[in-house]
Amino acid sequence: MADTSSPPTDQLAAATITDEVPKEQFSDRVLIQSIIRRSDGGSGLAGQKARVGGWVKTGRKADKDAFAFLELNDGSCAGNLQVIVEASLAELGQIVQTGTCIVVDGHLKLPPAGTKQKIELRADKVLHVGPVDPAKYPLPKSRLTLEFLRDYVHLRSRTNTISAVARIRNALAYATHTFFYKHGFLYVHTPIVTTSDCEGAGEMFQVTTLLNEAEKLEKELIQNPPPTEADVEAARLVVQEKGAIVAQLKSAKASKQEISASVDELKKAKENFSKVEERSKLKPGIPQKDGKVDYTKDFFARQAFLTVSGQLQVESYACALSSVYTFGPTFRAENSHTSRHLAEFWMVEPEIAFADLTDDMKCAEAYVKFMCQWLLDNCLEDMEFMADKFDKGCIDRLKMVASTPFIQLSYTEAVEILEEAVKNGKKFENEVKWGIDLASEHERYLTEVKYQKPVIVYNYPKDIKAFYMRLNDDSKTVAAMDVLVPKVGELIGGSQREERYDVIVERIKEMGLPLEPYEWYLDLRRYGTVKHAGFGLGFERMILFATGIENIRDVIPFPRYPGRADL
Ligand code: 4AD
Ligand code: MG
Repeated sequence: MADTSSPPTDQLAAATITDEVPKEQFSDRVLIQSIIRRSDGGSGLAGQKARVGGWVKTGRKADKDAFAFLELNDGSCAGNLQVIVEASLAELGQIVQTGTCIVVDGHLKLPPAGTKQKIELRADKVLHVGPVDPAKYPLPKSRLTLEFLRDYVHLRSRTNTISAVARIRNALAYATHTFFYKHGFLYVHTPIVTTSDCEGAGEMFQVTTLLNEAEKLEKELIQNPPPTEADVEAARLVVQEKGAIVAQLKSAKASKQEISASVDELKKAKENFSKVEERSKLKPGIPQKDGKVDYTKDFFARQAFLTVSGQLQVESYACALSSVYTFGPTFRAENSHTSRHLAEFWMVEPEIAFADLTDDMKCAEAYVKFMCQWLLDNCLEDMEFMADKFDKGCIDRLKMVASTPFIQLSYTEAVEILEEAVKNGKKFENEVKWGIDLASEHERYLTEVKYQKPVIVYNYPKDIKAFYMRLNDDSKTVAAMDVLVPKVGELIGGSQREERYDVIVERIKEMGLPLEPYEWYLDLRRYGTVKHAGFGLGFERMILFATGIENIRDVIPFPRYPGRADL
């Protein structure tokens, strides 16, 4: 049996610290990565002692059950460390089960010639076993589909694919902060709960406590029914009686003591009356006023929502600190069931003062290129896994995007190209003509078929874009831009913002939006207005693009989409 008691710390230090295999500072072991991801694959560490911990990917018994061979993974890298455990150290039938957690002290040794790994760990002591019942463990060794794994979002991080995605996602987040930091942008945290609809598309989730408050009250009133009119009347009579007594005692010149005692009683009766009266007014259901929901009774005393974008708020920081960005979760209550949409997704939104649409496009291109190069430089092992399992071309795609200038195309030119394609026999489900919102099939035709590289489409018709985009001189188009990339279609949406007070007021009205919620936003134009521009990059779409994974639900740890919000 494994000895799972903690060893004294001096013994532990001896087991884990060597000059060459540095112990983790905040965890009592070495990372498997620091052994097998060395340039020599770990072979130079032969003879060193190390403590490792991880979860068994696969295990088998060998030499007539004298040994177990375990492929151990701790998530620090894609690769596994081979660990050999003698039968005297642990119950081998238990530790070979996929999913088992094990911590061992051992010494590193060179494997027999001809094996694929460069180093292995021979266990000297088993310190911990977190067993798995293979009859119940939902993730057996066999290859599982990503769709199947969506039913186990709390365990799927143990699979090769989801852990590789997690590392790539982490690397892209780090790359994002690095890029903007390098270019002097300030990271601003914009609110999740908001009262402004940024896109004006009415796709917001409402934040309210009215429903649970109503439910609570309903239950409470059943348990403890409200006072009837007769109860209220009775309480009123008590007040009258007590009042009469006070008056009587005063006119009879009773003692101070007697009078103040009766005044106290009157006070109590009044308090009781107001309580009874208030409770008698309680009605089950949502509070209403003039036939509408009374949001003044809601938590924020007004209607509130989850944000669809941090842009409007981050603009207020751009118009003071110049170059800023926000990176956070955003929420859209659109009922899309596509492989490119989530109800909760993360967005990176830079906003640049003293910048126009050209600057904006430049920034978007540089940022996307930076992320591609970052993955090539820092995440190659995980990218190779993706190339092997999901998308042969993903590494070449990163190289291409990192090194090729993006195509820039006006919307009008894009429509002409699509019309030309239709003339030449290309069939689209959605009709192509000037004024349409480009559908995903159109975007993908441009970036995947026509140019086979990222394409930035700019100057869209104003009627299909948001109110805050700057009106061009033609009065028909706005200074908007979308970055389209192979595999995904729209990766980025952005624009130069309308900085002219009169024009933006007109646009808000034209779109049938109320002015009141945007008054604060208009202040940015009333006081010290400035030319500015920004964009939003869908973070999960960037991961789809990088990895070649087909469904956006597999590149966010806990996907939320219509009908699903597990955990
Ligand atoms: O084009 P969108 O709607 O732009 C905005 O929200 C602007 N306020 C951004 C800005 O200028 N600061 O969204 C930006 C990007 C899209 O290009 C897409 O990549 C992603 O966000 N996106 C989604 N990703 C996943 N699921 C959804 N439902 C998404 N909706 C948009
Ligand atoms: Mg968009």
